[in-house]
Amino acid sequence: MLPDHRTILITGASQGIGAATARAFAHYPVNLVLVARSRPLLQALADELNAKQNVNALPIPVDVSQKEDIQAAVQQALNAFGQIDILVNNAGVGMSSPAGQIDFEKGRQLFNINFWGALMMIEAVLPSMRAQKDGLILNISSIVGRRSMPGIGVYCASKFALNAISESFRLELKDDNIRIVSFYPGVTATNFGDNLLTGAASVGGKGRAKVTSAEKVGKAIVKAAIHEPRDAYATLFDRAFVWASLLAPRLMDRILLQFRP
Ligand SMILES: NC(=O)c1ccc[n+]([C@@H]2O[C@H](COP(=O)([O-])OP(=O)(O)OC[C@H]3O[C@@H](n4cnc5c(N)ncnc54)[C@H](OP(=O)(O)O)[C@@H]3O)[C@@H](O)[C@H]2O)c1
Repeated sequence: MLPDHRTILITGASQGIGAATARAFAHYPVNLVLVARSRPLLQALADELNAKQNVNALPIPVDVSQKEDIQAAVQQALNAFGQIDILVNNAGVGMSSPAGQIDFEKGRQLFNINFWGALMMIEAVLPSMRAQKDGLILNISSIVGRRSMPGIGVYCASKFALNAISESFRLELKDDNIRIVSFYPGVTATNFGDNLLTGAASVGGKGRAKVTSAEKVGKAIVKAAIHEPRDAYATLFDRAFVWASLLAPRLMDRILLQFRP
């Protein structure tokens, strides 16, 4: 069970996994801070969730690649609810990046959202979490943040980088009672493929991958927020993909060759 009236800040809450996670948290009495750029989508979700009993949803339109905006958003959330108990660092974008065709400007933009944005968000909530000696941070990585796929190496690198921060901070923040969960979704049915910074909605293997619904992933994220495992997955397939990659990397190389762009 999630303790009552936790305040949960979710980035990338306007659609996809973030919106599904907000809906899954809204089965409990919670305060939800919904962060993304799209004001109308955030407002519509907040209206939907505020119609439920014991749910307070506050939409805050923010670009997570902008440090001042993040800090203002966290302050607004603290003013509204007094504290932030859980941060779900979920905002993210993908891009196609085959070798020899890297768009560096888009790659930097991607890192500014997926990596620096998540890190700036952690830095912004840290002072209040430290002061209350309690906090939970869920970093939404990806199974391709544990095993890179051909054609999307820049995106994979941003998730590996996020995992690195999770591992460092998990130890650094232990004495402050701030816990970090790394969550690794597999291919999920969202608009992620349509929102890529560059390239078509494919990693070379579209149609061959096992697809999970955003609702299932959102529920698994809430479960991870309750049980706080070190590493969390939405499906057995996603967990097996990562374990197989660690135990048999050459075999996985052979399997993943078919996903070449
Ligand atoms: N879908 C998958 O197959 C899959 C698999 C593994 C991991 N993931 C990860 O799961 C997370 C959610 O992805 P999704 O599938 O739900 O994708 P999505 O449907 O495209 O949603 C992405 C969310 O991120 C927000 N966002 C993007 N850029 C932003 C920015 N600069 N500032 C603030 N918010 C921003 C978007 O909102 P606005 O456009 O309104 O800003 C949107 O709410 C990402 O981190 C992704 O890497 C997805």
